[in-house]
Amino acid sequence: MAKEFTVTPWKVEGEVDYTKLIKEFGVEAVNDKLLDRIKKHTNELHYMLKRKIFFSHVDMNFILDEYEKGNRFYLYTGRGPSGNTHLGHLVPWIFTKWLQDKFDAELWFQMTDDEKFIFNPALELEETNRLAYENALDVIALGFKRGKTFIFSDIDYGKTLYKQAIRVAKRLTISTTKAAFGLTDSDSVGKHFFTTIQSVPAFLPSVLKGKNIPCLIPCAIDQSVHFRLTRDIVGKLGYYKPAGLYNVFLPALNGPKGKMSASIAETAVYTTDAPEVVEKKIRKYAFSGGRDTVEEHRTKGGNPDVDVSYQWLRFFEEDDKKLERIYDEYKSGKLLSGELKEILIEKLTTFLKKHQENREKARKALDSYILKD
Ligand code: TYM
Repeated sequence: MAKEFTVTPWKVEGEVDYTKLIKEFGVEAVNDKLLDRIKKHTNELHYMLKRKIFFSHVDMNFILDEYEKGNRFYLYTGRGPSGNTHLGHLVPWIFTKWLQDKFDAELWFQMTDDEKFIFNPALELEETNRLAYENALDVIALGFKRGKTFIFSDIDYGKTLYKQAIRVAKRLTISTTKAAFGLTDSDSVGKHFFTTIQSVPAFLPSVLKGKNIPCLIPCAIDQSVHFRLTRDIVGKLGYYKPAGLYNVFLPALNGPKGKMSASIAETAVYTTDAPEVVEKKIRKYAFSGGRDTVEEHRTKGGNPDVDVSYQWLRFFEEDDKKLERIYDEYKSGKLLSGELKEILIEKLTTFLKKHQENREKARKALDSYILKD
């Protein structure tokens, strides 16, 4: 039978079935027992955990076992700088910031300017490298701690990374990269090699500090494929296997099931979009779960489960009670589709105004976050 959806680090297509992905990618579902265990250390649960936006994990119990023994973990995540940052990218970063605060953990943040050069025929290295530092402003704007947050471009930190990447490359075969990523004989050696570079920050701090340090990687499920390979190999190199906490995708504006993609500008909201642009995109493109006429909507109610404005509020409205009220009112028909869109517009434009101010301030602070050879 043909597969009805595809998820790789470079392509997400079709209606993603997350239950199936859990099996396919060899990860575990986040359950209430795990949430209780996390809460013991954090006192409260982030809304993205409560709502199971972070729906799956690998080895979270190992991370907590070690933490309880006093062996602290660091966080590792990243970005492939192919354009402006969009709201989907912020999802794992907002949650990572919470983890940094709650566990007082270091964050190692990789900018894969090499990856985006290799995979995107239209992009030059100078451009992806420039974008690495533009995107880093979005990371800093979220409030990550200076002195505990290390951002690096693969190109500008290449000497350090390469030394470790070749240790991974020596143990990675082409048959593995083909099976894991769907790469073929016609793909460049650059594509086959790339995953070794993304694996390095999952053990680099252990190398640099000369002792084994547990690593936790929060990101969307698409990237977990890399870390499945990483786990096999770094285990053999004598380091801890990295753990992961994986989120579902923020959908594109025009459809509730797929992934927001940076390459389709109308259906993504970028962190640099002006308020009028955000307003226009949402009014024009946000897929509605409302009925055809106001009368029908009032009597039968809307469907928040497919309505993209509601779905987006699940990712960005922290207040559980407010969200629940919106859900109920939309479902009952009290709240109209246009009104729901206005709630989302208000939420996002307020958030982005602050974010854009912080982003400009971050320009001055940038150097103090960057690692270079
Ligand atoms: P990139 O730039 O494709 O994505 C950056 C981060 O955002 C997540 N993501 C999303 N999350 C929610 N909804 C979406 N629509 C959405 N789209 C993307 C991605 O999973 C990722 O966490 N190769 C990587 C960069 C990288 C990396 C890492 C990512 C290097 N090391 C370690 C995570 C962890 C990339 O191109 O990400």
